Amino acid sequence: MQPTSPSTWSQRFESALHPSIAQFNASIGFDIELIEYDITGSQAHAQMLAHTGIISAKEGEQLVAGLEQVRQEYRRGEFTPGVDAEDVHFAVERRLTELVGDVGKKLHTARSRNDQVGTDTRLYLRDQITQIQHQVRSFQRVFLELAEQHVETLIPGYTHLQRAQPLSLAHHLLAYVEMAERDWQRLGEIYARVNLSPLGSGALAGTTFPIDRHYTAELLGFDRPYANSLDGVSDRDFAIEFLGAASLIMVHLSRLSEEVILWASEEFSFVTLKDSCSTGSSIMPQKKNPDVPELVRGKTGRVFGHLQALLVLMKGLPLAYNKDLQEDKEALFDAVKTVKACLEAMTILFEEGLEFRPARLNQAVAEDFSNATDVADYLAAKGVPFREAYNLVGKVVKTSLAAGKLLKDLTLEEWRSIHPAFEADIYAAIAPQQVVAARNSFGGTGFEQVRRAIEQTKERLSDASKDPI
Ligand code: ARG
Repeated sequence: MQPTSPSTWSQRFESALHPSIAQFNASIGFDIELIEYDITGSQAHAQMLAHTGIISAKEGEQLVAGLEQVRQEYRRGEFTPGVDAEDVHFAVERRLTELVGDVGKKLHTARSRNDQVGTDTRLYLRDQITQIQHQVRSFQRVFLELAEQHVETLIPGYTHLQRAQPLSLAHHLLAYVEMAERDWQRLGEIYARVNLSPLGSGALAGTTFPIDRHYTAELLGFDRPYANSLDGVSDRDFAIEFLGAASLIMVHLSRLSEEVILWASEEFSFVTLKDSCSTGSSIMPQKKNPDVPELVRGKTGRVFGHLQALLVLMKGLPLAYNKDLQEDKEALFDAVKTVKACLEAMTILFEEGLEFRPARLNQAVAEDFSNATDVADYLAAKGVPFREAYNLVGKVVKTSLAAGKLLKDLTLEEWRSIHPAFEADIYAAIAPQQVVAARNSFGGTGFEQVRRAIEQTKERLSDASKDPI
């Protein structure tokens, strides 16, 4: 095998890298994702070098303009660096020098790839966080709209996947809006810790040049520079925190997926999947499969894996930079892509890919014992101690089941034989609509509460000041 030439490092090296090792070492295959952030970061660095007099104003301008040219070439598809460039940082610097000549060699004054890669990764993640926050908002808006349509549609509520108490479908949907709200907030909180500048930390110890780290931090929109250069180049907490937030988004989407998969089954039949968001089977012509939620549920594991990978990556690293850190990127990039794709797919699914079946849902809640608690509550409201009422109703359910009857089918005599406190209004009290309406405690499924929750959510989502920058 032909060795590659030692083009990128100092003359200290006498022989070239083995081609397989060059390939093994290179990150250009994936860190090309950072190229525009690398260029932006380098432009700020060049401006700072000129601002502090480390290079001349003219040289600063040449570097900024040259970097802009590299950006345009990349956008036009004319700049496609290969393995020989090792990584995106070398690739950009090399192309810059080809374009602007020797002045390009001044760009790397007073910085290292260690603070450079940290800067690029933060600029990238900052953008991605904002984009994901917007996606979370779109997801919430679709759910809110659906909730408005389905305040009085009922759906069985489950605990232990056993019918528990009936719910307003809107209440069920709004639970996901709340989860998404925490996701949105969490991303915002993490943003504050992503938005610090390691630029100017140098390789690990700072630099002998009179740089101005506050200047570059400000140019790049960072809140402030890292206070400690060692921490600046070796901190990846922000990436782990993001992967934690991304994992929780996936937990929420995966739970929702599981529900849709159940709802779309013949057994539940709560939703119909539309052709635009379901697929057929190659062998069973009757099938319509919920591939979207299944894929989301499946992809969730990948994001958890990336979180785990980064935690393990970091736990044994001595300060400061170690090449292990190059491994953070694929995990981060894949998690970002996965979360974005899943949020988009689930938003589309609920916007236009499925339809709830109100008639079927309302019928479902009328055909079970999920109003049993309401019978106990009825007695308790008439002065029977709740535990005693609970035991009585347990017996009623048992005998009704044996007789193949539902509670609504019991005659008034039968009710009275259980307890004399029962009166004719028991039938209204256990009708599903009333059962739901009556749960009017704060945050409950009662229609009044749900309507209030919808109004409050609407207000929250329409407040532009609460949207990301
Ligand atoms: N490609 C490297 C990374 O992603 C850039 C930093 C390299 N630094 C070094 N000291 N070798 O981490």
